[in-house]
Amino acid sequence: MSTLIFYEKPGCATNARQKRLLLDAGHEVIARDLLSEPWTAQRLRDFFTALPVADWFNRAAPQLKSGEIDPARIDAQAALDLMLSDPLLIRRPLIEADGWRLAGFDAAQIEQRLGVAGNSKVPQGVEQCSRPHAATPCPVPQDSERAQVALAYHERTKHRPDRYASGPETLDWTMQPDPFRTFKDSPSVRLPLCAGRMAWAPDGADLPEETHPPALSLDSLGALLELSLGLSAWKEYGPDRWALRCNPSSGNLHPTEAYVIAHDIQGLEDGLYHYASRNHVLEQRCRSTAAHPSGLWIGLSSIHWREAWKYGERAFRYCQIDVGHALAALRYAAGLLGWQVRLVASCDSRRLTALLGTGRDQDYASAEREEPDLLVQLISPAHPQALVEPAPWDAAHTSWMGQANILDPHPMYHWPVIDEVASATESNHSEAAETRRQDYLPGTCATHLPAAEVIMGRRSAQRFDPQFTMAAADFYRLAASLLPHPHLPWDIWDYAPQVHPVFFVHRVEDVPAGLYILVREAGAEARLRAALSDEFEWQRVAGCPAHLPLFRLQAGKWQKVARVVSCQQAIAADSCFTLGMLTEFEHSIQQDAWRYRQLHWEAGLLGQVLYLEAETLALRGTGIGCFLDDAFHELLGLRSRHFQSLYHFTVGRALTDTRITTLPPYPERAAAAETEPTP
Ligand SMILES: Cc1cc2nc3c(=O)[nH]c(=O)nc-3n(C[C@H](O)[C@H](O)[C@H](O)COP(=O)(O)O)c2cc1C
Repeated sequence: MSTLIFYEKPGCATNARQKRLLLDAGHEVIARDLLSEPWTAQRLRDFFTALPVADWFNRAAPQLKSGEIDPARIDAQAALDLMLSDPLLIRRPLIEADGWRLAGFDAAQIEQRLGVAGNSKVPQGVEQCSRPHAATPCPVPQDSERAQVALAYHERTKHRPDRYASGPETLDWTMQPDPFRTFKDSPSVRLPLCAGRMAWAPDGADLPEETHPPALSLDSLGALLELSLGLSAWKEYGPDRWALRCNPSSGNLHPTEAYVIAHDIQGLEDGLYHYASRNHVLEQRCRSTAAHPSGLWIGLSSIHWREAWKYGERAFRYCQIDVGHALAALRYAAGLLGWQVRLVASCDSRRLTALLGTGRDQDYASAEREEPDLLVQLISPAHPQALVEPAPWDAAHTSWMGQANILDPHPMYHWPVIDEVASATESNHSEAAETRRQDYLPGTCATHLPAAEVIMGRRSAQRFDPQFTMAAADFYRLAASLLPHPHLPWDIWDYAPQVHPVFFVHRVEDVPAGLYILVREAGAEARLRAALSDEFEWQRVAGCPAHLPLFRLQAGKWQKVARVVSCQQAIAADSCFTLGMLTEFEHSIQQDAWRYRQLHWEAGLLGQVLYLEAETLALRGTGIGCFLDDAFHELLGLRSRHFQSLYHFTVGRALTDTRITTLPPYPERAAAAETEPTP
């Protein structure tokens, strides 16, 4: 078996299939980005030795198809010069092993040299993707392969004690990608800032009788976005200054972008808008003069590079968890306005790409692309509406505006597996194919509505007081807030719960230290019992409210283990409890690879509930994306991939770093805010 260097075009499904053939044959495959490799003429020539010059080219490159380049009439030096200036012209893939080199996936040579027979799965004559680097990724793989791509991605991006998932070897913080996407030449619509004067109190208890949920309008949309995805503060420490937002994000890198689709909304022209959180404005991406059913929708997308810049291959997971946080943030903010939020599950990735304009090559040019994730509809009781998908943009009545900014002019790395897993996990089904939740668990504790100040004041704890013990009632309340109920934010989630938190309880009054599990769906208990260690007790907890399906698995002190599992982060040991979100995994993804994204969203929802609920108890939480996957699975006795942990979280009393200065989120508008309307 050989170790092969496989130079590919990132995101190309054909290259992905070819790699899989090599992997299946037992070879180790190291994928490299052919487009960003620092080629020299000599290095390229080494791949082409036995081939005529015409066969050095990627026949699908636009310049060859259009006849601009005629490979039969070009000499070797001119060909190499062209390829060095545009690597899309190079025949793909290039494969290298122990001094042996190959250009193109030549079936005979592959079989002879590598023993990979039966290339029936590799379409003959289709070696290359025909789309340019900055374009939408290649078509999604066949259904049967999609799940395998997702499962393989998950496996290779696990952190292990001796080897973390592949990421950049060095980070130059001065080169961090711009955290704010903007669209140049898009008309900008100023949103009001009025969260500070929201009339609503927690639980709506103090709601004046004459106060009704506001209609869908520019003003109320401003409040919604301010309280969900807007900036919550600027922080300063020495020469460093960074923004925080109402929604958290792994590494504060904020890959999630939001788009508003408005039809018949007061104060807004019909069309598509990008939410620019830096200045709390909408940037108009398109104007539509077609007649559309009225409504207000928000689409979320991810710029994977923002996250991959720091976290490498594991970044796709973090982007998806961030989407879950953003979704819950939207639901809570809408709750403060008295609005409903519904997930438009029928809108598949292809239609969402068209709706959000993220597939428009001409508007992105060489800017980092965005991957659409989901769409929600906002519904105000002021105008009850059915759940509908927005009508597609009609080219004859739509004018597009704006050019996406480049976030990172000098990307040092590329992680092709992210494009691959993104492509494999796109949604390609209709709502009818979904599993709908049957019943909510019985119980009394609904997740209650946090106040606007709680949302704006939410922060991740960076250190915890290791002496502090939390009250049992608060612990049970936090656990209960994770149970699905027909209240916000869970009313946005129409799916059977698949995420079950496993707690390391460190310091909770009257709750002995130990390992506990909260079974969020009754039907999952038998599966969990079968999957987890036979030695676990599955004891009901004395003093625990009867409606809470919480079980003690094993007594004992777990701080050291929790810390090790959490990549040695002290926040996992010094808190009152830490948890890992055990998720129904392999079977779900085999049914539908898109669920790989959806499971991470559910984990993100749980995270956001914990963040806000902890704040209401004068506690604080922190999401933990850095954990040793299989170390956690092993301590639970898991032997298969039926369950996997997707996200960890920790809660305690935070110690604040007083050296860091906090500044208002929109200082330049603070004075003007006095005159801004209340929705
Ligand atoms: C998916 C996810 C993973 C995270 N992982 C970690 C982690 O491993 N360690 C940590 O200290 N913070 C982690 N955080 C917290 C972020 O660093 C934090 O949200 C970000 O710095 C923004 O700060 P804020 O939450 O106070 O707004 C994570 C947050 C999210 C959403």
